[in-house]
Amino acid sequence: MKILVTGASGMLAADVIPELLKEGHSVVQTDIRKHSKDINILDISSYDETIKNIKDTQPEYVFHFAAETDVDLCEKNPQYAHKVNVLGTENIVLACREVGAGLLYVSTANVFNGEKSEPYVESDEAGSINVYGRSKYQGELIVKKHLCRYFIIRAGWMVGGWELDKKFVYKIIQQLKQGKKNIKAVFDKAGSLTFTKDFAVNFMDVINTQHYGLYHMANKGVCSRYDIAVKIVEFMDLKNKVKVFPVESKEFPLPAPRPRSEMLSNHNLELLGLNNMPFWESSLKEYIKINKDK
Ligand SMILES: NC(=O)c1ccc[n+]([C@@H]2O[C@H](COP(=O)([O-])OP(=O)(O)OC[C@H]3O[C@@H](n4cnc5c(N)ncnc54)[C@H](OP(=O)(O)O)[C@@H]3O)[C@@H](O)[C@H]2O)c1
Repeated sequence: MKILVTGASGMLAADVIPELLKEGHSVVQTDIRKHSKDINILDISSYDETIKNIKDTQPEYVFHFAAETDVDLCEKNPQYAHKVNVLGTENIVLACREVGAGLLYVSTANVFNGEKSEPYVESDEAGSINVYGRSKYQGELIVKKHLCRYFIIRAGWMVGGWELDKKFVYKIIQQLKQGKKNIKAVFDKAGSLTFTKDFAVNFMDVINTQHYGLYHMANKGVCSRYDIAVKIVEFMDLKNKVKVFPVESKEFPLPAPRPRSEMLSNHNLELLGLNNMPFWESSLKEYIKINKDK
């Protein structure tokens, strides 16, 4: 299958693209920045550029990963978040409609307000408390409005790419590598993890069903960032040298409010018999084992 990928220089694409190439797909890689020679420059916020690129490529599918993913930057600059995450997605959707391509849009647990005590299922009502979540949800609505052949897959806290990861897991690993002996991590917010490697290995099974629609795809089990930090220390064999302290989120004030819960249940994958995502602890252990000596 011929697939055009947006956001090909990003963290998720770094694991998805090798998997697609391994399966024999023809992959056209695009991004706003050229992370490698295989990337074609495409700014999805330009309508003309997007339509031309997709018309020239004539892909069967577009895997749309490009987004402004910095939650705090989105909060500080909502117009920019709208330009990339909403208008950029609209451009992709219109281009897909023009050439008859299917679309995979990756969304987030941030679309929910976080007040539910159980993990969120696909039928739960959205209601994000930050700009990033609202922009990603608006993207979902545009996809649903204009296309029939689409998959929207919501991921949890994403982990992957090692040094490409700008988020919590790599930040803690860096602190440990720098010899920090006391680590503080937030215990009062819960979430589900999505390892990009597990996503990459499992998502094509869903696409191949042609059961279009909305799916959650998170690793099994839920945790706080404190739970994750404890496990990182254990898997890096530093249990006797490093202490992890649970702290409240107010100790780390951030520009964007974070929902109390970003826990996801892969209910629709269960219904298809395709909930093959591993438990988060085993994926974290494997991730650290493979990368820790880099
Ligand atoms: N990371 C998470 O925790 C998480 C969780 C759930 C869902 N998601 C979703 O999953 C998808 C992939 O996330 P990721 O973590 O791989 O993100 P990422 O590492 O930030 O990659 C996104 C890529 O898109 C590029 N980009 C930004 N603006 C663009 C534009 N106007 N045109 C073309 N490309 C542009 C980025 O370039 P720059 O780096 O130069 O901006 C980056 O290379 C996103 O749609 C995201 O919303 C992410």
